[in-house]
Amino acid sequence: MEQANSAPRKRIFSGIQPSGDLTLGSYMGAIKNWVPLQDEYDCIYCIVDMHAITVRQDPALLRRRTLEQLAQYIACGLDPVRSVVFIQSHVPQHAELAWVLGCYTQFGELSRMTQFKDKSKKHADNITAGLFTYPVLMAADILLYQADLVPVGQDQKQHVELCRDVAQRFNGVYSDTFTLPEPFIPKMGARVMSLGDPSSKMSKSDPDGCVFLMDAPEVIQKKFKRAVTDSETQVRFDPEHKPGISNLLTIYCAATGKSPEEAEEVFQGQGYGVFKPAVGDAVVELLRPIREEAGRLMADKAYLEGIYKEGAERASHLAAKTLRKVYKKVGFVAR
Ligand code: TRP
Repeated sequence: MEQANSAPRKRIFSGIQPSGDLTLGSYMGAIKNWVPLQDEYDCIYCIVDMHAITVRQDPALLRRRTLEQLAQYIACGLDPVRSVVFIQSHVPQHAELAWVLGCYTQFGELSRMTQFKDKSKKHADNITAGLFTYPVLMAADILLYQADLVPVGQDQKQHVELCRDVAQRFNGVYSDTFTLPEPFIPKMGARVMSLGDPSSKMSKSDPDGCVFLMDAPEVIQKKFKRAVTDSETQVRFDPEHKPGISNLLTIYCAATGKSPEEAEEVFQGQGYGVFKPAVGDAVVELLRPIREEAGRLMADKAYLEGIYKEGAERASHLAAKTLRKVYKKVGFVAR
C-alpha cells in the first residue's frame, strides 16, 4: 500500500454485512464501484459480521455467508493484494475502539438514527443495546483506519455524519486524533430497486424481488420474467411514471454499459415480452463469471483462509496504531 515519492493516497473504508446473500443491488450499487477505486486509493474492504449480529442470525448460516461473501468480493474483482480485505471480528480493535467512542456519543444522537428507528420497529421483540449502538461500531470501523472517504448508499449517510461528529468531538477534547471521513456516493452507482415493488430498494429480505449473485441462470430469468411493469407497452426511461420499466432499464444499462437512450433504441417497437428476458440475459451474462469464480473459491477453503488471515493481520497493524493513540489520550496506563 505504501507508495514511494508521491503524495500519500487517500484511504477508503467500506463494508457490507453478511446478514444475507449478496444481491444484484449490492453489486451494482456498491462492490462494482469499489473495484476501480483500488486504482486511485488505498482501499480497506470489510465483512462486518459484528454488525450482522445486531439482529438474530443463525450461527451456521452466518459463518457460511461470511466466507461466501469473501469469495464473492474476490470474484467481483476486489484484489486482496492491493487492498486490505478482512473480517471485522478478526480485528479486536473494532470492539475496543467502539467502547471508547460510545463514551463520546450521546444517547440522543443514537436515538435520532433513522435506521435504528426502522429496525426497532421491524424487530420490536429484540431491540438490543447492540442495535442501538450499531453506529458507534461503524464509527470505530471507519476511524480506526483514518479513512478519508466512505463509499456508502444514501441510507448510511447519516451514520457517516454521526461518525464525523463523534470524531470531531474527540479531536476537540484531546487534539487531532482522527481523520474526519466523508461519505462518498460514487457517481456511477446504480440504485437498483425491487423487481416486485420498484418503489423500494432491492433487498435481501424480499427474495422474490431480489436477484442474488449466486442465483442460477434459470432462477434469474424467472425473476425477470415476473418483474412488475405497467399497462403500457413502450420501453422508455421515466422513473416517475414507469418505475418498473425504468428500474429494468437501469439494470440493463449497468449490465451492458449502454446509456438509457441506447437501450431505448434497442427495444424500440418491441414489447415487454422481449424486453424482460433480454434484461434477464444481460444479468445472467454479467453474473456468470462471478458466480463461477466464487464457486471455485468456495471449494478452496485453504486459499480463503490465507486471504482472511493476511487481511486481518494487515488491518490489525493499522488499527493498533490508532487505538494506541486513543488509549493514551484518554488516560489509560500503557501496557
Ligand atoms: N452499516 C453498513 C450497512 O449496513 C455496513 C457498515 C458497517 C459500513 N461498518 C461500515 C459501511 C463502515 C461503511 C463503513 O450497510
